[in-house]
Amino acid sequence: MRSHILGTGAYVPKQVLTNVDLEGLVETSDSWIVERTGIRERRKAAPGEACSDLGIQAAQLALQAAHLQADDLDLIVLATCTGDSPLPSTASLIQYRLGATSAAALDISAACCGFVYALSVADAYIRSGVYRHVLVIGSEVMSSITDWTDRNTCVLFGDGAGAAVLGPTEEDRGLLSVHLHADGRLSDLICVPGGGSTYPVSESMLAERLQYVKMRGNETFKIAVKTMEDAVREALDAQNMKVSDVDFLLPHQANIRILKAVAQRLGLSMEQVILNLDRFGNTSAASIPLALDEAVRAGQIRPGCLIVLAAFGAGLTWASGVIRW
Ligand code: ACO
Repeated sequence: MRSHILGTGAYVPKQVLTNVDLEGLVETSDSWIVERTGIRERRKAAPGEACSDLGIQAAQLALQAAHLQADDLDLIVLATCTGDSPLPSTASLIQYRLGATSAAALDISAACCGFVYALSVADAYIRSGVYRHVLVIGSEVMSSITDWTDRNTCVLFGDGAGAAVLGPTEEDRGLLSVHLHADGRLSDLICVPGGGSTYPVSESMLAERLQYVKMRGNETFKIAVKTMEDAVREALDAQNMKVSDVDFLLPHQANIRILKAVAQRLGLSMEQVILNLDRFGNTSAASIPLALDEAVRAGQIRPGCLIVLAAFGAGLTWASGVIRW
């Protein structure tokens, strides 16, 4: 038995923040951002619009597409690094507001790899027969941890959510395998230093702006290219497949230059890389399910397609997966 995706959904906040808008906040330019990242605009949550609000909208659409009701769900797994609050889990809030009365709920913290990590949890429960229907969500309000005075990071991130409902299948399709990695030695490459038990919220912590994301972008860039390439090759090797078997690479949407380098190293054309970072930026755990939902609804991903997921992010974490749609 395998797990497969029964339906997808996505939601982005209404407010569009363009590169020109950012020119008014920090010393940057539309041309620098487009050339160095490929991002043209991103979405920003309204004041008070939280991770659960975005996640619920995506989840409802995924349930509709799967032709299931909330009370059919056995488990909700939410991938996020920008939950509504430290306690309780944001997945619990979504469980209640969706009316998923039979479902257990948990959050996963694996930054931009969160959705692939969450898929692996859903897959393990479904394959083992413990649970039948699992809702996996990636939802982020990255604007809540963005330092709007730091041009190195504020141009990169966006808010959004994507979701998928998984169920069992005995057909020759679905999630063929998932591969997860982590290397905590590199935990300081991308981090939010404050707000946890090391530096609890305090006046001095806030004055040092430790509540915001810090990133050593240049070092991250080089590691991202290598780990994503390795993760794709590992996933294909596990299935005895070659790059020529792949219809689409669905990567974490971080930077167009990273994705071009990965595609080139693998020998994939850019037409085979599913992209939406020009419109949404880096939405961390939401980026893969957001792009997946768009590609499914546009008819780009069709039954029988072979899709390889690839992600990297804070931790460091990196991950891949192979799906026969
Ligand atoms: N506008 C104008 N200039 C800028 C900006 C900006 N927004 N940001 C940085 N610069 C300047 C720098 O200050 C630097 O100037 P200097 O040479 O005078 O010091 C110059 O541009 C070059 O800076 P680099 O950091 O070397 O620029 P680079 O080409 O590496 O691009 C970027 C930076 C876009 C951040 C890139 O390194 C990148 O995408 N890295 C990967 C980030 C990533 O993918 N993170 C994913 C994980 S996120 C997560 O897990 C939540």
